[in-house]
Amino acid sequence: MTRYFKKPNSASLAFMVAGAVWFVVGAVYGMFSAIHLVSPEFLPEVAWLVFGRERPVHVNTMLYGFVGTMLIGCGLYCVPMLLRTRLWSEPLAWGGFVLWNLVILSGPLGFAFGYTQGREYSEYTWSADMLLMVAVTLIIINLIMTIVHRTEQQLYVSIWYFVAAFLWTAGNYPIGNVMWHPATGAMPGLIDSIFLWFWGHNLPGLFITPLATGAAYFVIPRVARTPLNSHTLSLLGFWLLVALYTHIGGHHVLQSPIPNWLKAVSIVDSVAMVVPVTIVVLNLWLTARQRGAVVWGDPAARLVMAGIVWYLITCIQGPVQSLPYLQRVTHFNNWTVGHAHIAMLGFGGYIALGAMYHILPMVTGRSVYSARLINLQFGLITFGLTGFFLVLTAAGLVQGTSWNNGETVYRVLPQLRPFMVSRAALGIFILTASIIGLINLIMTITHGRKLAPEELDQAEEGL
Ligand code: HEM
Ligand code: HEM
Repeated sequence: MTRYFKKPNSASLAFMVAGAVWFVVGAVYGMFSAIHLVSPEFLPEVAWLVFGRERPVHVNTMLYGFVGTMLIGCGLYCVPMLLRTRLWSEPLAWGGFVLWNLVILSGPLGFAFGYTQGREYSEYTWSADMLLMVAVTLIIINLIMTIVHRTEQQLYVSIWYFVAAFLWTAGNYPIGNVMWHPATGAMPGLIDSIFLWFWGHNLPGLFITPLATGAAYFVIPRVARTPLNSHTLSLLGFWLLVALYTHIGGHHVLQSPIPNWLKAVSIVDSVAMVVPVTIVVLNLWLTARQRGAVVWGDPAARLVMAGIVWYLITCIQGPVQSLPYLQRVTHFNNWTVGHAHIAMLGFGGYIALGAMYHILPMVTGRSVYSARLINLQFGLITFGLTGFFLVLTAAGLVQGTSWNNGETVYRVLPQLRPFMVSRAALGIFILTASIIGLINLIMTITHGRKLAPEELDQAEEGL
């Protein structure tokens, strides 16, 4: 048994399997949340299954559990592979796995029963925060030591992104979660919103984004069988992300009385974010340009490429909705929920799934059980998510324009019903896709065709 915890890539696989399980759990909670927005009286006697309790379980399980966990699994494979060495310590990675997943488990088991700090994206209680910090520290030690023992001298850009995601999180998480106030995890009054959105913004921006970008930079050149278009551009994109993303959390609270200078900085740099995003998108597209048919024809790479398309859409919408005048229509309503889904599922989720399927043969030694199931999952998610985006954006515009015309919140609610019903119906496609993905993953591990040693070598070399 203990030998299994030393087996190369076993922790990477464990993270990816856990990510797929959390995708299903998060989708179930998403469905309950969506149903309760249509019919609040559904299952009234179950106290832990009311909207206010299941929503944070859904959100945290999706972000930390599905997207975060799956991408960590990818990183634990990619970094040693690119450095042509083994992960420094497989048991240490397993330690990180156990602690990280205990934190996520504290969502469904804790939030629903009142163990929450009640701050969006910072709901985990102080003890879970501590476990998360230890988990992140173990991963950092492991990655740094792997770099120290590398046989490949060049640090490919994916390594920068993967390692930076954990270093930034180790710095940003305790600040945004106000961990020096264990009892509340909060600052008093309005100032708390600045701390809260520091992490609320850096969770997508400096944890999910670098992990997903690192994974995309890993998969696309390998499938296209061509070198990256430009290493200089890739590093420029990396440093511009650091320079611009770190301090724009203020754009979440533009409609509140935070200091004006903070608003100005966050707006200007939100708009400037177009530059690093364009760099990443162009660099990957130019890498794939001569090999479009191969890349879009590969089920795993197609998910990654589609993730890049969602990234572009998200990051055109993002700077636009950072303009305070426009935000008077889009803030506090379903428009933002639409943005959150195309960002987290469209960008983060697609790339996590695509990278996972790409890596799976190397970590299991088996070919993926069914390419058709990957394609089916892709189709279902794409249908569900495109529908989400259209329906939620429309619902947000109805809410925002009505409120600006003096309507009260409750008088607009009946107008939202068709949108909320559609969202719940579309959610069934995404839930089904999550279950199909889990089945495909389990079938790969148990029934996938075993690769011959030379096939495995070829897969590792990207041939
Ligand atoms: C150029 C890049 C981006 C800009 C300028 C931007 C801007 C914004 C703004 C202004 C909001 C707040 C909207 C409001 O409350 O009225 C927001 C919300 C959000 N963004 Fe972005 N965004 C960008 C990219 C991304 C990416 C790449 C992700 C995910 C990886 C992401 C995830 C989210 C999420 C989850 C929310 C919802 C937060 C909430 O619960 O209120 N964004 N974004
Ligand atoms: C079965 C599919 C899904 C359904 C039915 C669903 C439903 C919902 C609902 C009802 C909310 C609450 C919206 C509100 O407060 O008005 C929500 C929020 C959210 N969901 Fe989902 N969701 C699904 C999949 C996902 C996935 C796959 C992700 C990420 C990978 C995700 C990320 C989020 C985020 C970040 C929020 C917070 C949005 C905000 O505060 O602006 N959801 N979802």
